[in-house]
Amino acid sequence: MTKTKVVEIKDLERTYVLPSEEIKALKGVSFDVVEGEFHCIMGVSGSGKSTLLNIIGTIDKPTKGDVKIAGRTIIEEEEEALAHLRNDFMGFIYQDYHLIPSLTAQKNIEVPLIFANIPREERKRRSKEELKRVGLEERGDHRPTQLSGGQQQRVAIARALVNKPKLLLADEPTANLDIKTGKLILELLKSINQEEGITVINSSHDLRVIDLSDRITYLRGGRIVESMEIMSIKITKKDL
Ligand SMILES: Nc1ncnc2c1ncn2[C@@H]1O[C@H](COP(=O)(O)OP(=O)(O)OP(=O)(O)O)[C@@H](O)[C@H]1O
Ligand SMILES: [Mg+2]
Repeated sequence: MTKTKVVEIKDLERTYVLPSEEIKALKGVSFDVVEGEFHCIMGVSGSGKSTLLNIIGTIDKPTKGDVKIAGRTIIEEEEEALAHLRNDFMGFIYQDYHLIPSLTAQKNIEVPLIFANIPREERKRRSKEELKRVGLEERGDHRPTQLSGGQQQRVAIARALVNKPKLLLADEPTANLDIKTGKLILELLKSINQEEGITVINSSHDLRVIDLSDRITYLRGGRIVESMEIMSIKITKKDL
């Protein structure tokens, strides 16, 4: 059975034009992401990971090439339609969490619901539900500065999930965390992917993501140098 393509990218280029030079951040990238996949973008610093994720997230535009999200050609869409697509279809997680410092954890999670015009009581109920899912039901009234990095990233994950997205974009979500906390965050993303079938595109330097991923795409200098499917081998007791 062929799976639905959530993201389709063809010959994507992104050139940043600076007064002194042009930087070709993406130089002709093509790949698809299918529904339910846990897809990891890997590559050294400067290889184009964030540029690619920002374009998939429709917060940046390609210089050339074609990008389809949920079957919709992004360059043909008006900004207002893209804002709806972002809010209804996608969730974003960043390396430095991007929480609003003046708001409590619970209020931070409510932000996408405010944009979606969800009434107050329902916002409260849904943000509490998400806090529980990420194991922070006791911390809803804490502000970001009163939370550890791992807890802040959990709040950011809850905020990304509160609108029930189909696609979760995570740009180096564990880069600021210690090894153990980073592992817990990756496992949380994997469980969300498996239990709810949410497609995840995650960028990382962290080799441990290989174990969790269905496909890895390696970028180097704005080009794909390798894209491989990871066959998960499940070893049971009787195999030993
Ligand atoms: N707004 C910008 N203006 C000019 N050049 C940019 C801009 N954003 C990124 N670049 C350049 O584009 C290239 C790719 O950057 P990008 O941020 O996508 O890399 P990355 O793989 O995410 O790196 P890192 O692992 O350090 O986050 C780099 O050479 C970078 O300097
Ligand atoms: Mg980056």
